[in-house]
Amino acid sequence: MQNLVSKHVGPYEVRQCRFEDLPQVILINSVCLPEHYSDSFFEELYTESPETFVVAELAGKVVGYIMCRIEYGFSSIRRLGLSRKGHIVSVAVLEEARNRGLGWTLIKEALEGMKQRSCGEAYLEVRVSNTGAVRLYEKMNFKITSKTERYYRDGEASYLMSVII
Ligand SMILES: CC(C)(COP(=O)(O)OP(=O)(O)OC[C@H]1O[C@@H](n2cnc3c(N)ncnc32)[C@H](O)[C@@H]1OP(=O)(O)O)[C@@H](O)C(=O)NCCC(=O)NCCS
Repeated sequence: MQNLVSKHVGPYEVRQCRFEDLPQVILINSVCLPEHYSDSFFEELYTESPETFVVAELAGKVVGYIMCRIEYGFSSIRRLGLSRKGHIVSVAVLEEARNRGLGWTLIKEALEGMKQRSCGEAYLEVRVSNTGAVRLYEKMNFKITSKTERYYRDGEASYLMSVII
């Protein structure tokens, strides 16, 4: 189902990603994060879970995105066994547009999309050195549920952070 919700954060619009936004999303990923993916991976997540693929734009320019995957597996925070989970695969906001609440709003909207897809929790991996992002997730009630040494190609460890939604 198409999620038509669009939010305004100052002059920015936060809305569901459109197929034609993908090249800008891929560009933002390439400048903001060391983890890059094939174009077909972005298309796959866009097609499989449009409710949780959200962008922030200003006057036609995409300045931030979040993309997620709906998964089924063991809960990392509840002792409920198997459950449907939203995996935040990637989130980034261009430096010029940071600290205005866009990251927070993108995550909020993606969590709403996960609820529409009957997910009971969300999780993500984050570099242990990414204190700004960890602080933002903690403000949104994500908890560190585990740490994996040498998770990233360059040898850095990751935190797994999860939240009940
Ligand atoms: C992590 C990231 C997505 C956050 O995006 P953002 O748009 O800057 O996030 P927000 O503005 O919502 O929140 C960031 C900070 O701004 C604050 N903030 C929110 N609204 C604000 C406003 N209106 N005015 C000023 N500050 C505000 C938040 O409280 C938060 O403060 P804190 O750093 O003290 O916790 C962004 O920094 C980024 O793209 N980083 C590089 C990629 C990356 O690390 N991604 C995460 C990988 S797991």
